Amino acid sequence: MSLLFDPINPNIIIFDRLDSTSNEANRIIDSGYGEHGLTIWAKRQEAGHGRYGRKWLAEEGNLTFSVLIKNDQTVKNLAIYPFLTALAIRDAIMEFNDLAAIKFKWPNDILLNGKKIAGILYESRISGSKVNFLICGIGLNISSFPSGIAQVTSLAAENIQNIEAGQIIFKILQHMDKYLKLSAEPSQEQQIYEEWLKYAYRLGEELTVISASKQIKGQFETIENGNLILRSEEKRHIIATGDVFFAEDSRIITTMSNVELGNVTFLNINKNKKN
Ligand code: BTN
Repeated sequence: MSLLFDPINPNIIIFDRLDSTSNEANRIIDSGYGEHGLTIWAKRQEAGHGRYGRKWLAEEGNLTFSVLIKNDQTVKNLAIYPFLTALAIRDAIMEFNDLAAIKFKWPNDILLNGKKIAGILYESRISGSKVNFLICGIGLNISSFPSGIAQVTSLAAENIQNIEAGQIIFKILQHMDKYLKLSAEPSQEQQIYEEWLKYAYRLGEELTVISASKQIKGQFETIENGNLILRSEEKRHIIATGDVFFAEDSRIITTMSNVELGNVTFLNINKNKKN
């Protein structure tokens, strides 16, 4: 697989403003110009979305971008991607500040000092059982974070001041290349999950997952093929998708239980396409 990031000839389109970099990636694929590694970066994204179609709010100064990944994978083999992407974001931040306390919250949040600093959203363009493109969307709060949302932060708010969107975007892509190479070796896939687990937030602790309006409570045992494994008494729960909450989030859990979360990890877009 060719590199996502070629330092001699970066394949990046930079917009001053855009509705959503992932929407733009979809439009580019629709028009037949999708390419592996094509990166769309918006300095200001005005209608960004996150998992389950939630809004992703980002003021200018934060990083919002999407990168196209072309592969020959079948739908079955997609679970590894958010995990390798989380590792790449961590490695990129650590290049600027090797003391940053980065943790991962299943399935695809990056935390700094226990608060969300970045989110990852994968969308797939599928034809039959074959994946044509993955669209990896990343939002990283660099200079600010939206108010009124619990447990979010920015690099600046945590005293990491020396990172600019235009620098870290390329670092993330370079580290993604490293992990994509590793993940292409079936024998190395497990290594990616194990590396992720080293930084898993609250591994071994009690947590609640809300998945398709169901609440499951248990001890965070491990990750298996991207699934969250929770243990409650003698039962082992294998959870493919959902939102994770901790004891101190009890008020949020009550609210979230009333929201239909759906049951998809990947947003599958099956439109007529040229690619
Ligand atoms: C999440 O935490 O729910 C994932 C958030 C992903 C947001 C990014 S910002 C760049 C890309 N464009 C979007 O509209 N969403 C993703």
